[in-house]
Amino acid sequence: MSTPSSQSEASQANAGSGRVVIFDTTLRDGEQSPGASMSMSEKLKIAGVLDEMGVDIIEAGFPAASNGDFEAVREVAQQAKNAVIAGLARAVPRDIERAAAAVKHAKKPRIHTFISTSPLHMKYKLQMEPEAVLEAVVSSVTQARNHVEDVEWSAEDGSRTDPDFLCRCVEAAIKAGATTINIPDTVGYAVPEEFAAIFTMLLERVPGADDVVLSAHCHNDLGLAVANSVAAVRAGARQVECTINGLGERAGNAALEEIVMAIRTRPDSLPFETGIDTTQITRASRLVAGATGFAIQPNKAIVGANAFAHEAGIHQDGMLKNAETYEIMTPESVGLVKSSLIMGKHSGRAAFRAKLEELGFGDIGDNAFQDAFQRLKDLADKKKDIFDEDIIALVDDELAAENESVKFVSLGVMAGSIGPQTAHIVVEIDGEVKTAQVAGSGPVDAIFKGISELVPHEAELQLYQVHAVTGGTDAQAEVTVKLAEGGKIVVGQGADYDTLVASARAYIHALNKLLVKRNRTKPETISA
Ligand code: KIV
Ligand code: ZN
Repeated sequence: MSTPSSQSEASQANAGSGRVVIFDTTLRDGEQSPGASMSMSEKLKIAGVLDEMGVDIIEAGFPAASNGDFEAVREVAQQAKNAVIAGLARAVPRDIERAAAAVKHAKKPRIHTFISTSPLHMKYKLQMEPEAVLEAVVSSVTQARNHVEDVEWSAEDGSRTDPDFLCRCVEAAIKAGATTINIPDTVGYAVPEEFAAIFTMLLERVPGADDVVLSAHCHNDLGLAVANSVAAVRAGARQVECTINGLGERAGNAALEEIVMAIRTRPDSLPFETGIDTTQITRASRLVAGATGFAIQPNKAIVGANAFAHEAGIHQDGMLKNAETYEIMTPESVGLVKSSLIMGKHSGRAAFRAKLEELGFGDIGDNAFQDAFQRLKDLADKKKDIFDEDIIALVDDELAAENESVKFVSLGVMAGSIGPQTAHIVVEIDGEVKTAQVAGSGPVDAIFKGISELVPHEAELQLYQVHAVTGGTDAQAEVTVKLAEGGKIVVGQGADYDTLVASARAYIHALNKLLVKRNRTKPETISA
C-alpha cells in the first residue's frame, strides 16, 4: 500500500490494514534538540537517505522559524523522490502560508499544523480560552486545506488534554479537512495503557475518526516513547512519528529503528508492516550521529556499537552452536555486514569503496571519498591495525566537515612542561587561508584561542571530551566540543590520531554549526 495522502487512501489505513506509516521528524523535532543543529547539506543528505530507505513522510522542518528552516524544507521538498514532505506550522496564518510555500514543489506536499489543547498549555502558554482554541483548529486546518490536500493536525500536549475537549477538537479538525490526526505525548508523561486508550476513545467517539489516519507522536522522558507508540498502533494508530537514533528535545523522540525493528521482529505479537528497508538503518543512524555530533550510546538498541556484540563466554558458546540462542534479529537485517575486508596502507581505492559500502556509508560523494582515502593512508602510516571503528570515525569526521565555511588546514603545537605552550593554526575561511600563532595555558587552550582569533565569537566552551576510538596507545582520538552563545548550543566532533588535531577539528566543527545557527531564530512559542 502506498502512503495515504488523500482522504480515501487514509480511510483504508485505519480500516483494519496492518500498514503503519512511518513519519520521520529527525530534521524537525530531532533538530530542536539543543546542540543538534544541522547544515543545509547535512539535511539534504539525511533526507535523501530517509527517502531511499522508504520513510513515508519526512517532516523537513518548521518553515516559519527562520529563513534557513524555510530554505531547508524547500530544498528537501524539491529533492524528494518518493516521500511526502511535511512542513510544520503553528495555528497562525503566517506559519501556514510559509509552510505552504516551502512544500509547494514537493511531489507529495503536506502541511502539519498544531495547537496546544491541554488545560495547562491553553491557560499558561497560549493564554487562550478553549473555545478560541477550537476556532483556531478550524481556521488553521481550513487555511492549510486551501493549499494542499494532505493536512495533518496535532493536539499538542494531547495526552494531558481533557478527553471530551480532545474529541471535540479532533472532530472539528476532521470536519475542516484534516487527513491525519496526530496525538502527541509532548512531555513524555503517558504510560502505554492510557495512551492506547486515547486512540480507542477517538475511534469510538469521534465521527469520521476511522476515515483519517490516526498518528502517535511520543517523547521519551520516562523511557516509554517506543512502548507508547507501539501501544497506540495496537489501538488503531496507523502512523508513528519518530526520529533516527531517538534524537529529539530532552530525552528525545521515539526511535524509528526501534519501532520498525520491533514490528519486523515480532510479527506474531505485532501483525503490522512498514515500508522501511531495514538494511538502511545503520547507514541512516551513522549519518545522523555524524551530522549532529550526538554520539550513539554503545548499548543503544538496534544501532549501538554493542547491540550485536556477544562477549560473555556463555553467550559466545551458545551463539557458536546456534545464533538464535542469543540473537533475536541479525546484524545484516539492520545493514551491519560482518567485516571481511581488512584495511591497511596497501589498500586501494576500490577496496576502500567496498569497505564503505560494507560499513553502511553508501556513496559519500567524490570529494569526501578522496579526502577520507588520503586520511586513511596517513592513518595507516601511523597505526598498526586499522579497525572498522577507525574508518567510521574518520569518515564521519570528513562528512561533518564537508561544505563548511571554516575548514581545518593544519596545526603545529608546542606542548610539554617547558612553556610557553603555543599553537600555530591554519584554517581556510570561505576559501581564504588564515593563520594564527597563539600562546595559551596548555596546548588545547592555545589552539582554541588561535581559532577564536581567526573566527571571532563570544561562545563559551561548555564541554571538552576526549574518547579513544579503539584500544591501544596509537588509537585515534574522537573529541567532542560543546559551545554556547546567546542561548544557542552547538556540539562539534573531530577525529584524528593526534588528539590535538582532533580537538581543533572538533572546535571548528562546532563553530561552523554556530555560524549556521546564528542566522536562525526559532519563535518563542514552539515547544515539543
Ligand atoms: O511534541 C509535540 O507536541 C510536537 C508537536 C509540534 C507535533 O512536536
Ligand atoms: Zn514533539
